[in-house]
Amino acid sequence: MAFKLLSIVSLVALATVASAAPSRTVCSDGTVVPDSVCCEFLPLAEALQTQVLMGDCGEDTHELLRLTFHDAIAISRSNASAGGGADGSMLIFPTVEPAFFANLGIADSVNNLIPFLSQFPSISAGDLVQFAGAVAITNCPGAPQLEFLAGRPNATAPAIDGLIPEPQDNITKILARFDDAGGFTPFEVVSLLASHTIARADHVDPTLDAAPFDSTPFTFDTQIFLDVLLKGVGFPGLNNNTGEVSSPLPLSNGTDVGELRLQSDFGLAHDPRTACFWQGFVNEQEFMTRSFKAAMAKLAVLGHNPNDLVDCSAVVPKPKLAVAVSAAFPATKGPDDLELSCITSRFPNLPIDHGTQEALIPHCSDGSMSCTTVQFDGPALSFGDNNSS
Ligand code: HEM
Ligand SMILES: *[C@@H]1O[C@H](CO)[C@@H](O)[C@H](O)[C@H]1NC(C)=O
Ligand SMILES: *[C@@H]1O[C@H](CO)[C@@H](O)[C@H](O)[C@H]1NC(C)=O
Ligand SMILES: *[C@@H]1O[C@H](CO)[C@@H](O)[C@H](O)[C@H]1NC(C)=O
Ligand SMILES: *[C@@H]1O[C@H](CO)[C@@H](O)[C@H](O)[C@H]1NC(C)=O
Ligand SMILES: *[C@@H]1O[C@H](CO)[C@@H](O)[C@H](O)[C@H]1NC(C)=O
Repeated sequence: MAFKLLSIVSLVALATVASAAPSRTVCSDGTVVPDSVCCEFLPLAEALQTQVLMGDCGEDTHELLRLTFHDAIAISRSNASAGGGADGSMLIFPTVEPAFFANLGIADSVNNLIPFLSQFPSISAGDLVQFAGAVAITNCPGAPQLEFLAGRPNATAPAIDGLIPEPQDNITKILARFDDAGGFTPFEVVSLLASHTIARADHVDPTLDAAPFDSTPFTFDTQIFLDVLLKGVGFPGLNNNTGEVSSPLPLSNGTDVGELRLQSDFGLAHDPRTACFWQGFVNEQEFMTRSFKAAMAKLAVLGHNPNDLVDCSAVVPKPKLAVAVSAAFPATKGPDDLELSCITSRFPNLPIDHGTQEALIPHCSDGSMSCTTVQFDGPALSFGDNNSS
């Protein structure tokens, strides 16, 4: 009886393999993919790591993740000609979109990717942007292995200005923009904000370089969702910049810059439409990364019919494993510092980091004060850069 059952199972397995066989290719390194177009992305992943990312979850990695968002979100369901979504228009029209005010700082990532268009001429700009972001975050412990579909045509026009959410926008406007772009729900918007766990601002406060949004900007953990719920006590640099509100950990020293809080993150953490989603990610690493991955899959195909694309997820490298530690109150903080707006669920019990003084947030992932980043020269200019020289 057991033998019979086993042989039926293996027959079924054989039949499955046989029917899937025509759409199965093995790349030269052994990776099994549905189509040989996927194989081209394997050397691209290597080239991105050796030429730009260096395996680090640092500035260049963070910027490439931000680029996936700013390229993709520039589309509108209410205006078909406003933008093409995840189409690589940032790279194809590098002197247009990167110069919009809301894209301040994006020029760095655009210039860092442009050389790969000619190195890999069969890979489109839209595929390059989304794939580069997926590869980049694998350098950040705890990040998910994102879905990656290939086959986006090159952009044919740049997007119009005004489609990128800004930190001073109110939550109604932010949620409406995400809905107009691609029907994102408030839960999906909060899921996407997991990205701010590996993020720092260079332009919100013009006097600061790389002011982190949470106390662990080099790991893809849930700390951002905790830190934004702590009472604000001061600013890491100038007071009252547009789009900034006070942060709980403002202490800076040299290149170790204190935490900076975006008004939009604060708003999402407290607005009745999103507060429980925000709070629900605190110390829920697996739930957060799974939700981020699902929302990113939606973001990455804006402007495309996924049925026209090939599932090349198998060529996305395996991310570094999560650091197996709990989210924790930073030293000197504790439950009394929480400002909670979601009253329907219990807040988790979390440990408190040791120390009697507010700890500095290191500038580099290895804890040092000075780290190397890669910045290629290129055609993209940021808002305010001088074009005539
Ligand atoms: C409400 C929506 C959002 C707003 C208002 C917003 C705003 C910002 C701002 C103002 C910065 C700082 C830029 C600078 O001064 O250098 C930033 C950084 C960043 N954002 Fe967002 N963001 C939003 C959503 C997202 C999403 C959906 C993603 C990705 C999926 C993302 C990824 C990043 C990353 C990775 C950085 C850090 C870049 C770096 O460290 O160089 N953001 N964001
Ligand atoms: C729609 O997009 C076009 C650009 O193709 C732009 O000229 C127009 O102002 C947009 N309309 C609205 C209502 O934003
Ligand atoms: C997309 O455009 C870039 C820049 O013009 C070009 O180098 C590349 O070959 C194009 N790729 C595809 C797949 O059309
Ligand atoms: C939110 O911003 C929009 C657009 O700027 C504005 O029309 C609206 O009145 C604002 N809503 C609130 C509640 O402030
Ligand atoms: C920030 O601006 C608000 C309103 O303009 C003001 O009440 C507050 O004192 C300012 N905060 C700081 C730290 O300057
Ligand atoms: C600030 O940095 C300086 C120089 O790196 C160092 O000597 C000093 O101890 C630091 N101060 C604090 C509070 O960490």
